[in-house]
Amino acid sequence: MSVTTMATGLPTRLSRAMNIGTDPCGAGVLVVEPMGNAGRFLVDAADRLGVRLYAATHKDIHDSYSPSLRSALAGVCETDLADTPRALEDMEDFCRRHSVAGVAACWELLTPLAALLARRLGLPGNDPALAHAARNKILMGEAFAAAGVPAPRWTAVRDSAQARGAVAERGLGWPLVVKPAEQGGSWGVSVLDGPDQLDAAMAAAQRHTYAQPHGLRLDTRVLAQEYIPGEEFSCDTIVADEVAYPLPVVRKDTTSGAHRIETGHTCPAGLAPSTARLVRHTAARAALAVGIRNGIAHTEVKIPPGAEVAFVLETGARLPGGNLCEVVETATGVSEAVAYLQTVLGRVPDTAPTRTDAAAIRFLLPRSGGRLRRVSVPEVSGTHSELHLGAGDTVPEPEDSSCRIGQVVARAGTVAEARRLAEDVAARTRVEVS
Ligand SMILES: Nc1ncnc2c1ncn2[C@@H]1O[C@H](COP(=O)(O)OP(=O)(O)O)[C@@H](O)[C@H]1O
Ligand SMILES: [Mg+2]
Repeated sequence: MSVTTMATGLPTRLSRAMNIGTDPCGAGVLVVEPMGNAGRFLVDAADRLGVRLYAATHKDIHDSYSPSLRSALAGVCETDLADTPRALEDMEDFCRRHSVAGVAACWELLTPLAALLARRLGLPGNDPALAHAARNKILMGEAFAAAGVPAPRWTAVRDSAQARGAVAERGLGWPLVVKPAEQGGSWGVSVLDGPDQLDAAMAAAQRHTYAQPHGLRLDTRVLAQEYIPGEEFSCDTIVADEVAYPLPVVRKDTTSGAHRIETGHTCPAGLAPSTARLVRHTAARAALAVGIRNGIAHTEVKIPPGAEVAFVLETGARLPGGNLCEVVETATGVSEAVAYLQTVLGRVPDTAPTRTDAAAIRFLLPRSGGRLRRVSVPEVSGTHSELHLGAGDTVPEPEDSSCRIGQVVARAGTVAEARRLAEDVAARTRVEVS
């Protein structure tokens, strides 16, 4: 069967070869759930490219969209994303009716569904046979091992007894990382100094059996994983027609206790050129190992002190969260969301940096959970901040990224100055929780 593109009716290879730059007719892209941090960057990117953006979501979730997201959409495919056969049927029908020429994903757990849909429509996408490896850390570990990507040693366990046995048998030792097979945002991830906290860590990792708001069933197995010391970085990779374009490296700061919450990011990472090359090369290998063929990967790595190897903690087939799209674009001029849309439309992605500035983000975090009484953020030139919560809102305990009250982003000529500005604002932010 010859595959044709919806928009032009031309054979895919031919029309994709011709698609360089902005499509004057305004190609359509279906985003499988644009709600969430990356959605706003896709909306902006679609506007810049003249792309029509459609959403696939649930009716009640669509009802909760912000007015700006709602008004940015050319149409909505209401379906049940937790029911794969039904969702594929509904979305395929929708895409054909609206001449959709690309499929994008925002939510990590929905990236396999986006890969399946793209395959059904004959559009650029990721390898459906490997797509679950970009969502499930057990399959991811297997894919990394098969491709020889450096990663921490791990074993899958179902309960504390199995975890204790695995630590002894596999020589994983302490500290030990316990994490759910399918979660994000550090949810249920614990770094343990000894066996005493194992029961609590397993319970935290297995707390959720379904992911809301879509009601997706989760694999409740847990990874007991070797702890990798050292500095942490992320590197996003655009992949177009199986060619990987790793983007600039970002330094990631986290808390250091049992719960590793992201405190901020800085771009560029301030690494020696050879180390930055190593991280980018490793991130690109990780993306290809989990079947990313036409899309984007967000990859996180740690480099132990003195080592010349970047160990991959995880990679997801999605844009980064935490306003990282803004941080990278502010520093380098590269819009990850523009490059991602270009890629899913079969165009040549625009990944070349156009600036050499620096940007840093610091998340505004509470010391403890409770009811937010008051929050005040100082205004500092070269920075801008945003609050997600206001007085009266409930603040979760600082155990994962859901406790963020807001963020501050700083732009400067140097990494040191961008970090100083953002840290200054974060340090002088007053958060009162009772
Ligand atoms: N094996 C590990 N060694 C050291 N730190 C780890 C390890 N695994 C996770 N972490 C820390 O916990 C954080 C969250 O873990 P991660 O695997 O990225 O899960 P999530 O999908 O929730 O982001 C990481 O950013 C890192 O700081
Ligand atoms: Mg992570």
